[in-house]
Amino acid sequence: MVLDFSSATAHLKQYASKDGLDIKSLVDSKNFGGLTYNDFLVLPGLIQFASSNVSLEAKLTKKITLKSPFISAPMDTVTEENMAIHMALLGGIGIIHHNCSPDEQAEMVRRVKKYENGFISDPVVISPEVSVREVKQMKATMGFTSFPVTDTGKVGGKLVGIVTLRDVQFQDNLDISVSEVMTSDLITGKKGITLSEGNQLLRSSKKGKLPIVDGKGNLVSMISLTDLQKNQTYPLASKSFDSKQLLCGASIGTMDADRGRLEKLVDAGLDVVVIDSSNGSSVFQINMLKWIKSKYPDLQVIAGNVVTRDQAALLIEAGADALKIGMGSGSICITQEVMACGRPQGTAVYNVSEFANQFGIPCIADGGIGNIGHITKALALGASCVMMGGLLAGTAETPGLYFYRDGQRLKSYRGMGSIDAMQQTGTSANASSSRYFSESDKVFVAQGVAGAVVDKGSITTFIPYLYNGLQHSLQDIGIQSIEDLRTKVDSGEVRFEFRTTSAQLEGGVHGLHSYEKRLHN
Ligand code: IMP
Repeated sequence: MVLDFSSATAHLKQYASKDGLDIKSLVDSKNFGGLTYNDFLVLPGLIQFASSNVSLEAKLTKKITLKSPFISAPMDTVTEENMAIHMALLGGIGIIHHNCSPDEQAEMVRRVKKYENGFISDPVVISPEVSVREVKQMKATMGFTSFPVTDTGKVGGKLVGIVTLRDVQFQDNLDISVSEVMTSDLITGKKGITLSEGNQLLRSSKKGKLPIVDGKGNLVSMISLTDLQKNQTYPLASKSFDSKQLLCGASIGTMDADRGRLEKLVDAGLDVVVIDSSNGSSVFQINMLKWIKSKYPDLQVIAGNVVTRDQAALLIEAGADALKIGMGSGSICITQEVMACGRPQGTAVYNVSEFANQFGIPCIADGGIGNIGHITKALALGASCVMMGGLLAGTAETPGLYFYRDGQRLKSYRGMGSIDAMQQTGTSANASSSRYFSESDKVFVAQGVAGAVVDKGSITTFIPYLYNGLQHSLQDIGIQSIEDLRTKVDSGEVRFEFRTTSAQLEGGVHGLHSYEKRLHN
């Protein structure tokens, strides 16, 4: 019998759609138990578009949509102002940690909100009394070649000069102060100047640095020619509609003192607050959530962490604008081992987001993201964004200095429930940042470890790598946007396959004597 071609295609398609499992069958614990990202794969789909046409727009909360689904974790080795600025410039958002005083945290938020691309808002400034020797040392350790000089030695002080490499280079007397060698005949820009006007001034004056001053001659920021030359544009930048300032998030705890902390953060211009608890289903978090929603109805609140529908229901009822999912899946985390409490992350993300999405509450998969594939899987399981600690740790924009061990350039990365982090929290004025202990605790019980990660370069390269990689990954599944992914997973069109242990081995590099794993150029 000769088959009619069109009906044969339809016939074949029916079979094709039966390969693999739909999401419910994959996550059904009767079949496989609790799942992690490595336990399954997504089956390929039909590619009908270029990967560059895949949209990664994602809901962070009910009211905030980002151009990319990436969030940096509120950890003291991951997100401070520099990270938050760059995450927002690159289309995601950074959540500034609260293992510091409320004033320090609010100041970081303020700097992110005041950030203007191309302007250096916190240049390294010196006072006129600093010696030439010290300037030479600063040049050697920081790499900068010029420093603005103010009467206070700080931004905000009266600008009295600028000292450049040329001023100190041939100076034999290292003990004289910079006031004797600095240039005090200055070309400055006035506060409010645009980047292109500043650029023009730099060119016409043939200077390398342009200090920006207010009406009283106080230094407010600086423009640098070298930065302008390598200036990137950031088409995906996350900005508020009205002010066009970068979006900024910050975390708080659930104690009474955190209410005062939040007031300072809101004054500084905060857009979204994360209530940071390892187990979000507590009366403390519910009370805090209700208080925030009544006091700041426009502030978006991400509540969590949760791993079950029951926990999610409590926080949705209390007013959460998004939920954060994960307990025990973080790369620095020993919660599951010590507390016997938590849930494998794949199962947790599916169950919580399947429930929360019905109420229009976006979900963030937090912890355990180790590569681009994990991001795709978290989104396929129902999350709309991912929060990353370890994957971003070791980049240039994280707090802390690089150090060398065994010939490798490393940076510290530690859990907020590690003894190291808790000791810092418990001994300073930031006791409210205790995510992992209560004030009555006599002995710290660690839920995290402190370690080190390898230098990953700048996130201005690393986030675009994640972005492009995720676009390619979704293209492979035949998906053109995160929303499209949601629809096609729910309808059963996107199919999944469980991976046996040997399938996981097969999926990794194997059989080589040696190799180098370079992830991007
Ligand atoms: P990672 O991206 O796998 O490194 O996980 C980061 C996430 O781990 C954070 O966003 C927190 O939710 C969680 N986390 C941070 N510190 C600790 C800790 O000390 N113990 C357990 N989980 C932690």
